[in-house]
Amino acid sequence: MNERKLIFAANWKMNHGAAEAQAFAEKFLALTSPADGRSLWFFPPAVSIAALTAAMKGRPDVTVGAQNVHWEPKGAYTGGISIPMVMEAGARLTLVGHSERRHLFGETDEQVGRKTRAALAAGITPLVCVGETLSERDGGRTEQVIVRQIGAVLGVLDAQAWHKVVLAYEPVWAIGTGKNATPDDAAQIHELIRMQLGRRGVSFHVPVLYGGSVNAGNVASLLTRPQLDGVLVGGASLDPAGWSDVIVRGSQAKVRPSGGWDVSSELGAGSQEDLP
Ligand code: PGA
Repeated sequence: MNERKLIFAANWKMNHGAAEAQAFAEKFLALTSPADGRSLWFFPPAVSIAALTAAMKGRPDVTVGAQNVHWEPKGAYTGGISIPMVMEAGARLTLVGHSERRHLFGETDEQVGRKTRAALAAGITPLVCVGETLSERDGGRTEQVIVRQIGAVLGVLDAQAWHKVVLAYEPVWAIGTGKNATPDDAAQIHELIRMQLGRRGVSFHVPVLYGGSVNAGNVASLLTRPQLDGVLVGGASLDPAGWSDVIVRGSQAKVRPSGGWDVSSELGAGSQEDLP
């Protein structure tokens, strides 16, 4: 199959421990059936990866990931979690450089590059997040910030590796604030990202998601833009019925361009169905 899949990614942040994750899965699975052309990604807290993986087993459209990983496989990094550890728990994806990691925990472009490279080397798909703050936007520096953040990752990967990266554009001012970029704003930055990728010859292969206050009310208008390959959602992904609604409305809105990236064939170890 050579089709670009639509990706609905749920970032639970510091919500839903193992018991809550399992209860979510039971309700969600009853509400949402697998559908051609879309992938459902979940990023629970690390302690819930194993429970959610087990609960989603048998759903080929669902893949579970980590919210953050260390680039070293093991060592004296108190509080750190390595890629082999999250993979053992069932993760086949990881967020890298989410704005909360960058701005609340001081994660640098260089660290984002290291984590991305380590994820790819281990065979796990990195979902690398980029986005400008409000002051950067107000100062007219949006493009500069996006180019710098992407460049920091482009610079440490060869073109082959880029085929396995997924990006998310999440303007920091739109995350958890209820303000989201207009479909035009989002499409414009997605074009800029594609131009950066195009310079390395990987433009068409890398899915680019949009994130920041996406919900059931705005997902359809955002996903009518061909530049968006899916959404990365925090608050509106926490409730099983609400998240199912976002997925249904987004799927109905999207007209997929043909050709390009096939998520299922690119994932290092396939979907949850293939897990031990
Ligand atoms: P939000 O979070 O949907 O709650 O704005 C998005 C994110 O941080 O990934």
